[in-house]
Amino acid sequence: MRDSLDGRVAIVTGSARGIGRSIAGTLAGRGVRVVVSDVLEQEGAEAAAELGPHAVFVRCDVTQPEQVQALVDAAVSRFGSLDIMVNNAGINTSDPGERVTVDRYSDDVWRRIIDVDLNGAFYCCRAAAARMVEQGSGSIINIASVAGVVALRLQIGFVAAKAAVIRMTEAMACELGPRGVRVNAVSPGSTLVDATRKLFYENEAVASRLVSFIPQGRPGEAAEVARAVLFLASDAASYVNGHNLVVDGGWTCGFNRDF
Ligand SMILES: NC(=O)c1ccc[n+]([C@@H]2O[C@H](COP(=O)([O-])OP(=O)(O)OC[C@H]3O[C@@H](n4cnc5c(N)ncnc54)[C@H](O)[C@@H]3O)[C@@H](O)[C@H]2O)c1
Repeated sequence: MRDSLDGRVAIVTGSARGIGRSIAGTLAGRGVRVVVSDVLEQEGAEAAAELGPHAVFVRCDVTQPEQVQALVDAAVSRFGSLDIMVNNAGINTSDPGERVTVDRYSDDVWRRIIDVDLNGAFYCCRAAAARMVEQGSGSIINIASVAGVVALRLQIGFVAAKAAVIRMTEAMACELGPRGVRVNAVSPGSTLVDATRKLFYENEAVASRLVSFIPQGRPGEAAEVARAVLFLASDAASYVNGHNLVVDGGWTCGFNRDF
């Protein structure tokens, strides 16, 4: 896969930490020139510096369409093209007090999550698509979630946003396929990052209950999600368009319980 990606240009949103940071590192390791982007300036700049001279940091809040356009413009003016757009920036409720059923779910949480996870993904897809259609080539990869594949309780905003991202991915694959641009999604299951470690994996009882639903019996690593992105970004996936690649240890295959 090295040859197919060497010298290409990628933007990874939300890549100051977590899964996004791993995606940026994995792409850079294959010779891709990477624009690390996030609202976290210090961590983002550090992440880019760690990747070496072929990576830069550009601050961008994905909920602001003009900042998203400026991000795409910055990638093109710095590196000459935009070949890979990874829309990874995302949020969910992390305060257990906000993990509530629909009747108690607040306007504020709903709007906050839809704004980043759905509106942000849309702004990023639109800006990247405009550039890629002009070039006649490109690969857009949206980071969705198992929560967009099967419904989960107590996070309705996240479920709604990620389900919409998957369907939006398919619609864009239909629109952009004829113009040389592939659009796919990757849906992680429970993946170890600082936030999920704190929320689920520091308490043994919570962790073992969650893991009991995962056939492979463990959470995923960020690098395992990153490798799925690498595949979809590369020419190895040249005929893969409109797919949602689920990386969840088998979680969504069925109800993992003996009766
Ligand atoms: N970790 C998991 O278990 C898991 C599971 C399913 C899906 N996901 C998805 O994977 C993606 C990455 O999540 P993660 O677990 O690495 O989380 P994370 O919180 O570690 O990283 C998310 C990054 O997005 C950035 N971000 C948040 N709002 C932003 C905005 N408005 N503009 C730009 N950047 C913004 C954050 O600053 C952060 O650096 C998200 O889309 C998330 O929904 C994660």
